[in-house]
Amino acid sequence: MSADPCSFSSFTRCVTKHLNLSLHVNFDRHVIKGQVELTVEALEDRFSTLTLDSRDLKIISVRANGQTAKFTMGPKHAFKGTPLEITLPFDLSRGQQVILEVTYETSPSATALQWLSAEQTAGKKQPYLFSQCQAHHCRSMLPCQDSPSIKHTYYAQVSVPKDLVAVMSAMRDGQEVDPQDNNRVVYRFRQPVPMPSYLIAIVVGALESREIGPRSRVWSEKEFVDKAAFEFSETETMLKTAEDLAGPYVWGQYDILVLPPSFPYGGMENPCLTFATPTLLAGDKSLSNVIAHEISHSWTGNLVTNKTWEHFWLNEGHTVYLERMIGRSMESEQFRQFKAMGGWKDLQDSVNTFGANNPLTNLVPSLQDVDPDDAFSSVPYEKGFALLYHLEELMGGPEVFMGFVKSYIQLFAYSSVTSEEWKNYLFTYFKDKVDILNKVDWNAWMFTPGMPPVKPQYDTTLADACITLSKRWIKATNQDLSGFNKNDLKNLSSHQLIEFLSLLLQEASLPLSHVKRMQEVYDLNSFMNSEIRFRWLRLCVRSRWEEAVPMALKMATEQGRMKFTRPLFKEVYNFDKFKDEALQLFLANRGAMHPVTAGLVAKDLKVDASLSTSL
Ligand code: BES
Ligand code: ZN
Repeated sequence: MSADPCSFSSFTRCVTKHLNLSLHVNFDRHVIKGQVELTVEALEDRFSTLTLDSRDLKIISVRANGQTAKFTMGPKHAFKGTPLEITLPFDLSRGQQVILEVTYETSPSATALQWLSAEQTAGKKQPYLFSQCQAHHCRSMLPCQDSPSIKHTYYAQVSVPKDLVAVMSAMRDGQEVDPQDNNRVVYRFRQPVPMPSYLIAIVVGALESREIGPRSRVWSEKEFVDKAAFEFSETETMLKTAEDLAGPYVWGQYDILVLPPSFPYGGMENPCLTFATPTLLAGDKSLSNVIAHEISHSWTGNLVTNKTWEHFWLNEGHTVYLERMIGRSMESEQFRQFKAMGGWKDLQDSVNTFGANNPLTNLVPSLQDVDPDDAFSSVPYEKGFALLYHLEELMGGPEVFMGFVKSYIQLFAYSSVTSEEWKNYLFTYFKDKVDILNKVDWNAWMFTPGMPPVKPQYDTTLADACITLSKRWIKATNQDLSGFNKNDLKNLSSHQLIEFLSLLLQEASLPLSHVKRMQEVYDLNSFMNSEIRFRWLRLCVRSRWEEAVPMALKMATEQGRMKFTRPLFKEVYNFDKFKDEALQLFLANRGAMHPVTAGLVAKDLKVDASLSTSL
């Protein structure tokens, strides 16, 4: 049995089959009072003790089949939280089930939750709550076996103030006035498909929704619903394309919820209800692959799940592979090649940031004593994709390899897998090509840090224009600057403009004269698309353009997507003259930020370290 280095729960001795959640959301105290009934099955005889994961929870009582059960809390671990050790008042034999009823309360600092005041919302009238459980934060919302190796169904009922709406990563199942309090409403949910704890998700706010397809609605505060409906109008086409590639969509509904700006990710694949950053709504439509990516997780991640976070590339690498296959179907093969090239560059950036000898750049890293949030990078996404693309070329092209991916999905659906199980099935599926597979340097790909052993050759048709223009800027002397004009961008798509800026960011900083000229001719300051603006402002700050600093800090704080906020803060922090301003701004904002983002930016800016040395 493989162990999960990120969980205390006794998943080798028992497994959770179902959760029944009753939540009472208290916006005054920033706590959820909860009762969770876990249906737990023993995997061994004489089973009478078990451990659940918890983090900053107040446990009020534990009952087993209605009888009081003894419990103790172990020592608190920095990121794994506090083991909740339960002793049953009876023994179970192998295969028997018990219903554990835990009554508890969350902490206002629960890492899975962000509580927003009314002022922090678009509507300014109602507070807002959202969760983000991946990777290991579900335990701060409810006690559970918080390991992706365990899958269960869940039902929930959530009591909220009557002007608010609750949604979850499940099918909506009606609502009624709270029988305990007629100023509140109870929303009911059911998730009949077994899934891991990290996919449990909840949002409470002044939400509205609009239908965008036969199985899809968009949800957000009313200020954004129309924009969101427009931005995500291709959802059903993407779902159908994904079904053609990967098999039937099993989750029933596919809704998209647009969160407030502090949502720390671009998207999160919560079943039945993808979470999306509002930064997708700024600027031109469909520039983003986020929805294709989150839709793809409905197969790779949510149906077939990484057994532990060490095998995270199985989730993200396959999902990027599928996402780019959707791009291939809906756009072109050249477009897929272009995105794959950009991905290789993102991998290069991550390897540079972590260091080429850093074990966290392994495709399959050891996460013993490593906080998954600290390990997060493009590596599992893009080294994973690069491996799959390399195999695609070796095995006979996209159609052939997609046959394997689809078969892998169908075989491992509803279960959790390791990299070894994946590899064994690869060898089984391609049993006639084992000699080729044996030539792959598996140890280098999976267990060696740095860039992969093989660099795939991608078609450069769409990238060439970006490369040419970036080279012109890099080589330009001050005399050459007059040769640039706004027509340089005329034939570039927004995707190519992003790529052009990424290429410049990979080089040593441009002279200040160059970025100033670039602003003069391209007016990039006026671009609101977040992917463009983010790269442009980084470039300006790196060239020490003082006027860009306020804009960079504004973007770093007005939205909280970590992909943007962390590098923007770091970039300004590395500009000596503004280091202190970046620090002070972070400290002033910290309390209102998402807990995970605040923690990581603090590490990036060495805040806690510098505080303790100054004492
Ligand atoms: N599941 C991830 C987000 C995530 C990963 C949250 C790890 C917490 C821990 C999601 O599917 C994702 O990869 N989002 C990307 C989208 C991009 C690759 C298109 C993002 O947020 O940028
Ligand atoms: Zn993903």
